[in-house]
Amino acid sequence: MKADAKAVPIGMAVSNVGKSITIRGWIYRKRSSGGKIFAVVRDVSGTVQCVVDKAKIAEKEWTEIDAAYLESSVIIKGVPKKDERAPGGIELEVEKVSVVHIGEQFPITEYQSPEFLLDVRHLWLRSQRMISVMKARANIFRYARNFLDRNGFFEISAPLITVAGGETGSNLFEVDYFGQKAFLTESSQLYAEAMVPALEKVYSLAPSYRAEKSRTTKHLAEYWHLEPEMAYFDSKKNMKLQEKLVSHIAASLAKENEELLKYFEISKDALLKIRPPFKRLSYEKALQLLNEKGSAKKWGDDFGVDEERLLTEDESAPIFVYNWPKEIKPFYMPINPKDPRTVLCDDMLAPKGHGEIIGGSERTWKLDELTARMEEVEQIQKIKFDKEKYAWWIDLRRYGSVPHSGFGMGMERLIKWLLNLEHIRDAIPFPRLINRLTP
Ligand code: 4AD
Ligand code: MG
Repeated sequence: MKADAKAVPIGMAVSNVGKSITIRGWIYRKRSSGGKIFAVVRDVSGTVQCVVDKAKIAEKEWTEIDAAYLESSVIIKGVPKKDERAPGGIELEVEKVSVVHIGEQFPITEYQSPEFLLDVRHLWLRSQRMISVMKARANIFRYARNFLDRNGFFEISAPLITVAGGETGSNLFEVDYFGQKAFLTESSQLYAEAMVPALEKVYSLAPSYRAEKSRTTKHLAEYWHLEPEMAYFDSKKNMKLQEKLVSHIAASLAKENEELLKYFEISKDALLKIRPPFKRLSYEKALQLLNEKGSAKKWGDDFGVDEERLLTEDESAPIFVYNWPKEIKPFYMPINPKDPRTVLCDDMLAPKGHGEIIGGSERTWKLDELTARMEEVEQIQKIKFDKEKYAWWIDLRRYGSVPHSGFGMGMERLIKWLLNLEHIRDAIPFPRLINRLTP
């Protein structure tokens, strides 16, 4: 059988009952009994049990399929038949088998440690679990892009190799750039800001890098960061856009992914209930609530996993905590004129302990205010900005600067929450973790 023979997706076998079809896939399970081989074959569209009867096919083909391993690649011609006992309700009665690549014995067997599965991630990606995550991930990326594209945004690309930090700057990976010290970007925000006067509403969807020494279930050293940036948006408009985006993604996931929802045991109704407006708590109010719930956090403290959990324990949709103390937020966030202890910003916290999925803010757009804010941050955080390295970004405040806002959403954090995954490493095909750089 030729590899380019017209193949039918396995998921379509059920609508071809009684007709001879060709499928192309990989052996997912295999057993033999009484002169028959039962091979469950998978492709991206599904799985089907193929029944090979020794008496009905050529001897050479029997020998080949008999010797094939799990994950050997195969092309099979056969007739789908309804059979209640078969997984999925149909079975393929095999007429012809060709083993494309018999390969070697597949190293993954049924019970394996998570560490081993990470070691062989390049192979584990073929598991039903990872296939399901990756399908959901691709769809979620598409829904996010669709929403922004339809709302007048332009997708932009920022450099990932930079000379200065875009956040705290304390978690940067250093790169030797032809003898010059450079860093992997921690956010594309500063570049997105430069493109606002040109395109007004932009977004970047690209990796960000964080050299955080955190060994938690929600930190990756390399993650995919969706960063919209909008002219003439204030903090309120910014939050509205964030909740619309997240609701759109949740609703699309609910409406278009019946099988995936079943696989991950996610309720469609629960996803459809994620609708604007999300609850909004000022930092001050959130702190009060935490104190009422017994937390000892005081003004100026950042919130950790415990606080995020306490704040969202009764929620089924994400919440905003907005206007945080200026001491714990970055240099680009403007002072809140109504309460100068705070800056105009928001974090979106997902329920069930999944934690922060979005960080956003207005941007300081006036030169004198930016200079003052950067000097203040230098004092508070006991750091020194290398102004030369930020010169181009500061320069934006000299020519037709306008009020603008933006935010960053961690795509794997979003996926972890939506699919209710235990660990963020499963939301990305090849996770980069503090103790893992391969495969
Ligand atoms: O809150 P962060 O640090 O904000 C920024 O980088 C802004 N410059 C974004 C912007 O306004 N354009 O990061 C934004 C989001 C977080 O809310 C979180 O979802 C995700 O990025 N994130 C991580 N995801 C996975 N692993 C990590 N180590 C992450 N650090 C942040
Ligand atoms: Mg943040």
